Amino acid sequence: MEERLTAIILAAGKGTRMKSPLPKVLHPVAGTPMISLVIQALKAAGTKEIRVVVGHGEHLIRSVVEPQEVTCHQQIAQQGTADAVRSADIPSLEGAVVILNGDHPLLLSNEIERLFKKFNDQEMDLGVVSVKLKSPGRYGRIVRHHGSLKAIVEASDASHETLKIKEVNTGIYFVKGELLKKYLPLIKNNNSKKEYYLTDLVGICLEHNKKVGILEGHPSCALGVNTQGELARATQLLFKRRVKVLLEEGVVIIDPAATYIEDRVRIGAATVIYPNVYIKSGSVIGSFCVLESNVFISGSTIGDSVQVRAGSYLEQAHIARKATVGPYARLRPGTQLKEEAHIGNFVECKNVVLGARTKAAHLTYLGDAEIGEDCNIGCGTITCNYQVDRKKYKTKIGNKVFVGSDTQFVAPVEVGEGAIIGSGSTITKNVPPNALAVSRAQQFIKENYAQRFQIKESGETELSGDSKKK
Ligand code: UD1
Ligand code: MG
Repeated sequence: MEERLTAIILAAGKGTRMKSPLPKVLHPVAGTPMISLVIQALKAAGTKEIRVVVGHGEHLIRSVVEPQEVTCHQQIAQQGTADAVRSADIPSLEGAVVILNGDHPLLLSNEIERLFKKFNDQEMDLGVVSVKLKSPGRYGRIVRHHGSLKAIVEASDASHETLKIKEVNTGIYFVKGELLKKYLPLIKNNNSKKEYYLTDLVGICLEHNKKVGILEGHPSCALGVNTQGELARATQLLFKRRVKVLLEEGVVIIDPAATYIEDRVRIGAATVIYPNVYIKSGSVIGSFCVLESNVFISGSTIGDSVQVRAGSYLEQAHIARKATVGPYARLRPGTQLKEEAHIGNFVECKNVVLGARTKAAHLTYLGDAEIGEDCNIGCGTITCNYQVDRKKYKTKIGNKVFVGSDTQFVAPVEVGEGAIIGSGSTITKNVPPNALAVSRAQQFIKENYAQRFQIKESGETELSGDSKKK
């Protein structure tokens, strides 16, 4: 973008129709607050400076947007869109300005660039972005005279005839900063809502023979979110957009309408995604992976050729190539699976490194542990990492260790390379390399013991033998 463009995002309104205590512009659309999506689009379009007008829910909105290098300007009372723009330190503006609402999450950066170019090429002083809608609803209507823009009439102030107009105001305007300085103070609030309408700028500019034009926008510019229904619709559209890009990049998506991938997720070609997979922003997934149904992935990296079977939940986990996970596995933060490691069903991992080719196939908890390569962790193994002093302790297991089923490691404890742990053991002391450790009680046998309990034909159980004589 050559010319200087400053953006003013209006985000002080109450958003009453959302019926939610969260400020409207902070509602996430496909995982990102809608105002952040607007900011991202403006930045990608090369906007030099972004100002956000805040009022309702100011504190929360500032906490989300200020880290994104924008300045916030307080609108003291919400007296309409023109009053909101006035709050954005108009005297300090330079060059052109784009004014838009914080609730238009589908706006694309290339659309902003295209419209701004048109505004410049046609040497407009004020450009109003319009779209034509089959059902124009409560949008302000674009009234033309001999093809040129004459006025914007709010639905609440429009006559029956004007309401029939299908071309609407998107609430996006390109305007010269100088013009805002001069004419914004002239806007009055003589309308049904007693608000200062920014749309009145059109009439004022025309009166002063300024060049006012219409910039025809893509229909997605108009999708403003005012209700939970519109939020859900915007979210669906954004997920759809995301899936389309991935399909073009060679990802195999079985049901695009049931695939939920937030932004900033990278997925390699030929990875297969089954229906109902949800991937949060920031995850990286390699090529030739398979993610089966109902897998949830957040903040994780997954190498090539990894299989994540149905119903698994992965949070800040790092999985090397050819590892397999699930079905129904839970990988909590700090889980690292090395190449070809295997985590099976109903296994929970947290802050654990599992060496290459090591397997924990069933019903196991591994927390705060370092486990070497080529180990077998038997069914029902538990690392008892949390002690009565409320501290966490570590279990260290060397390479090629065989852990029998139903073993507990009471941390801190270390097991040397090649050791064998007998099933059912509670390991409280370190085990040297290549040793056998068994801690279960000795098994004893009483021959014919069962004869003490005889079942008579009547179905009664009666003690016999020694105990009956007593
Ligand atoms: C506005 C336009 C309408 C257009 C529609 C597009 C006016 C008068 N009308 O109507 O022509 O079709 O947008 O979506 O501008 N806001 C403030 N402070 C205020 C009032 C509003 O910051 O005092 C913010 C809101 O948070 C919102 C934006 O301005 O982001 C638009 O306000 P809203 O009340 O939704 O205007 P609409 O009635 O939708
Ligand atoms: Mg609105």
